Amino acid sequence: MLFHLLFMSLVSQGLSVESYGKDFITAFPENIANYHPQESSNTLQITAFYGDTTVSITVNRTNVYNEKLQSGQTKVVHFPKYVEQYQFTRSFYSVRINSNKLIVVLWISQRGDSVQSYFVQPVKNLGKLYSIPFINYNQMLASLYNRAALIALDNWRCIIINAGNIMNAISIQTVSMNAQQAFNFTLSPYELYQFQTNGSEIKVYSSNTVAVLLTHPCVETSSCVCNMVTNHVLPENLWGQTFVVPSVKNLNSTWLKVTSTTNLMLRGQNIKILASNSGLISFPYLESGPQLITASNYVSIRLISPGLILELMPESMFAACYLLQMNSTAAEALIIAETASRGDVYVDAGLLSSTDWKTVANSNYSSVSVSLRGTHIIWHPASRIGVYMFERMESGIPYGGPAVILNEDPDRDGCMADPALYKTTTDVMTWPESHDYCLNATLQLSIASSARAQREMTSFLLKDGGPRYFWIGLRRSLLTLQWYWKNGNDGEYSVNYTKWADGHRETPWKSLCASVSQDANKDFSWKSVPCCSKMRPVCYKKALYFSDLTFDSLDNHFYIVNQKVCPLYPCNLFLFEFND
Ligand SMILES: *[C@@H]1O[C@H](CO)[C@@H](O)[C@H](O)[C@H]1NC(C)=O
Ligand SMILES: *[C@@H]1O[C@H](CO)[C@@H](O)[C@H](O)[C@H]1NC(C)=O
Ligand SMILES: *[C@@H]1O[C@H](CO)[C@@H](O)[C@H](O)[C@H]1NC(C)=O
Ligand SMILES: *[C@@H]1O[C@H](CO)[C@@H](O)[C@H](O)[C@H]1NC(C)=O
Ligand SMILES: *[C@@H]1O[C@H](CO)[C@@H](O)[C@H](O)[C@H]1NC(C)=O
Ligand SMILES: *[C@@H]1O[C@H](CO)[C@@H](O)[C@H](O)[C@H]1NC(C)=O
Ligand SMILES: *[C@@H]1O[C@H](CO)[C@@H](O)[C@H](O)[C@H]1NC(C)=O
Repeated sequence: MLFHLLFMSLVSQGLSVESYGKDFITAFPENIANYHPQESSNTLQITAFYGDTTVSITVNRTNVYNEKLQSGQTKVVHFPKYVEQYQFTRSFYSVRINSNKLIVVLWISQRGDSVQSYFVQPVKNLGKLYSIPFINYNQMLASLYNRAALIALDNWRCIIINAGNIMNAISIQTVSMNAQQAFNFTLSPYELYQFQTNGSEIKVYSSNTVAVLLTHPCVETSSCVCNMVTNHVLPENLWGQTFVVPSVKNLNSTWLKVTSTTNLMLRGQNIKILASNSGLISFPYLESGPQLITASNYVSIRLISPGLILELMPESMFAACYLLQMNSTAAEALIIAETASRGDVYVDAGLLSSTDWKTVANSNYSSVSVSLRGTHIIWHPASRIGVYMFERMESGIPYGGPAVILNEDPDRDGCMADPALYKTTTDVMTWPESHDYCLNATLQLSIASSARAQREMTSFLLKDGGPRYFWIGLRRSLLTLQWYWKNGNDGEYSVNYTKWADGHRETPWKSLCASVSQDANKDFSWKSVPCCSKMRPVCYKKALYFSDLTFDSLDNHFYIVNQKVCPLYPCNLFLFEFND
């Protein structure tokens, strides 16, 4: 009960779920699919936003990768087979990614046509309390194919990774029908532990932050093939009450799995049921379009289909701006936006124009699926949206999950990575001296090229309130007498927005430079002055927008050399055999 109350108070505080960061930890579960002749491939795609981003990766308490990435650059890092977690024991083969500036990390496990991908959540979004559902996959297959499963499927696995440089006491409670079993263990810094789940719901309580993976090395799909599934489980503090179940392409038979701490009512257009933690809820309604589901309490909801487990983003996690990274031609971005403002969704710098929007029944949302390839930013200038990315195995089964949340709050100008920074000094100087002064401080004379930039600049000036004028980066060409913005040492901008004082004098031979008033009574207007007047400069560093970055293609690979072969061959505990 105590845990439950704690969790409720966290939810009401509203957590930040921006999913880029500097500190990540994950692991690679076993990907069996032995009938694929290819070896399994475990990769991370690391994308930097800022110049000179140093990234390091640690496996088995050994530093295996150090690299400096440039802004917009993506590096694909391949891991050797030994990182795969195939034993039910503890190990130090967690994969830790650290950087000095913000990055995103896409996790991909592939063996032939058995593929899973997921954006790794930074450690700050992980938790100490998790519920792991029991997914009665056999029940689903039996009702789908009208026969028993061909392979024993109940060996789902759970990997708990200690995310901190600290000892971590963990308690696992198995919530079964009539009894509660518990076992406890302690993990050293960054150590992980893998165990099998035995057919019932599990609760994980830990004294410090952990990452939790629920995985199966090979679930049967159809035609006697199987693929790995992995769910990077969200902690309970990220649960929600309203969900839009997206209409993922190519899913014919779907079920919902609801995980909660209480019994509750689940409502949708076609369902109104009292849901407990028991079985899968048949959910064949996605063919007719996306669906809104509301729960009477905080829950997590997974969309299940043969070969797919998708933990849905609750509406409370919707955000204004996302990053997606897709490599195949069959890739799909699935966007959920408020119907009234769905025409204002942007992909990178351009408006998304689509006639394929479908309204989500009984809600104010619509959703659309868009084909995209490569790295893109999807954002809304005025409201929060939900975005998933999916790719497809050759068999048609989708894999993927929520896109990376970059900004929670909408911003008219895009997805901001760094707000503008303003500075001044008490020294007075000429315009050319001001220009040099700002550059020397690795800044530049301020450019107020839009009403918004003018507002940001004057809200900085207002802090110091007074009658002064300050130099800005605006001046006149000596040849043409045209006004232009001096962009530091990087050329010039034409002038579109202006804020001249009423009746400002046009005496070009005297007044070739411009200044801004810090007086609200003068509406922070500008006036032209001789460049050798002495006043303070407004220096600034421009806001950085993700949507302005150009991203690399994914052809930048790095292989971590296999230091040691697997002690057992093949490196799997289970070998599945199929009768053709
Ligand atoms: C599942 O069963 C195995 C074998 O009986 C046992 O070692 C393991 O601890 C059980 N796992 C859980 C979560 O109860
Ligand atoms: C879904 O059904 C269609 C038509 O029945 C079929 O072509 C397609 O392969 C099925 N998709 C999956 C993933 O089973
Ligand atoms: C992207 O796709 C190409 C061709 O399908 C493949 O060769 C390449 O390895 C893929 N890259 C990544 C990073 O998965
Ligand atoms: C739709 O929006 C209106 C106005 O914001 C609100 O009153 C109503 O409850 C919303 N409907 C749903 C189903 O969310
Ligand atoms: C440039 O900045 C450095 C400190 O960052 C300072 O020591 C130096 O005096 C500055 N030069 C000028 C010309 O302002
Ligand atoms: C400003 O005006 C110029 C020329 O009129 C145009 O090329 C440019 O795109 C405009 N810039 C903005 C930010 O509107
Ligand atoms: C992992 O570390 C242990 C102890 O440092 C070492 O014995 C083992 O060989 C390492 N494994 C690999 C694959 O390097």
